Amino acid sequence: MADALVIRRPDDWHVHLRDGDMLKGVALFTARQFARAIVMPNLKPPITTVEQARAYRERIVAALPEDVAFEPLMTAYLTDAISPGEIETGFREGVFAACKLYPANATTNSAHGVTSVELIHDVLETMQRIDMPLLIHGEVTSPEIDVFDREAVFIDTVLTPLVAAFPELRIVLEHITTTEAVDFVRDQPKMAATITPHHLEINRNALFAGGLRPHMYCLPTAKREKHRLALRAAATSGDPHYFLGTDSAPHAVSAKESDCGCAGIFGAPYALESYAKVFEEEGALDQLEAFASERGPAFYGLPLNEGRVRLERAPVEVPRNLSLGGEVVRPFHAEATLQWRFAGPA
Ligand code: DOR
Ligand code: ZN
Repeated sequence: MADALVIRRPDDWHVHLRDGDMLKGVALFTARQFARAIVMPNLKPPITTVEQARAYRERIVAALPEDVAFEPLMTAYLTDAISPGEIETGFREGVFAACKLYPANATTNSAHGVTSVELIHDVLETMQRIDMPLLIHGEVTSPEIDVFDREAVFIDTVLTPLVAAFPELRIVLEHITTTEAVDFVRDQPKMAATITPHHLEINRNALFAGGLRPHMYCLPTAKREKHRLALRAAATSGDPHYFLGTDSAPHAVSAKESDCGCAGIFGAPYALESYAKVFEEEGALDQLEAFASERGPAFYGLPLNEGRVRLERAPVEVPRNLSLGGEVVRPFHAEATLQWRFAGPA
């Protein structure tokens, strides 16, 4: 049994870094483990212009100590009204790495999201032409659809026609949670999917274990055990369609433990430790580097990172809470002991 693991420095292909004091509190958790991250644009107001993205990128860099090398990859938040010109300019100027499609009201700060994909056909056409990736929160929002079916119904009713209409568009189906998503993405030459640590670790029982568990609530919500097992098989399989994206989404404990608690799990602080746990349990530690550090850059057409990081087999006690920028936030794995420790640059 290996006692240390050295892998190429990984990237996080899906993270929420927030803004203001929260940004100052959370940014370093991501930057200490990851060289780059795709930063989600669901701020208030959302990042819809090149100028907003440039300014947000500067705030992220300013929130980190000067000696920390970290590259935020910015995304544009698609709205019904966003112009193809703004997207193309941002991509060509190296500000936008991708666009994020939130179906309107699917999740946190998505009220300005897209109400119907038909309304953004010109934007998708432009993205396909300039080979700019589309990142999708894949859930329908109609109240008649059972919350646990929202991803599968999205694949049938929105994603399938979208892929047919834009066969050359590169698409990431973000934070997948179902066998349907695993199977769909596997067959698509232009698609990939991110998988979070929490969807590899918990099923929907975790939301109700001994009582209502708001800190296990995220969107898309965790599904049945068979889906979790399919995600674990996909992540550890060696198939290049699946790569790391934490969807780390911090909210104050008070906002989660509320009458209408926010969706989001704060996975960044122990992200690699968490993935290492899963890969070891699956007998696939040898696949961790490809999942964490190689397949994402290959999909995005970016160079591999040069540095290496080290994980050591040593117990890590995850605290119940972290105090960040004046807010108390509960990390994923709170009060558990993990068996792999992130030990920094190798
Ligand atoms: O659980 C989630 N939290 N899912 C999302 O899609 C958004 C995120 C957030 O920003 O809090
Ligand atoms: Zn997210």
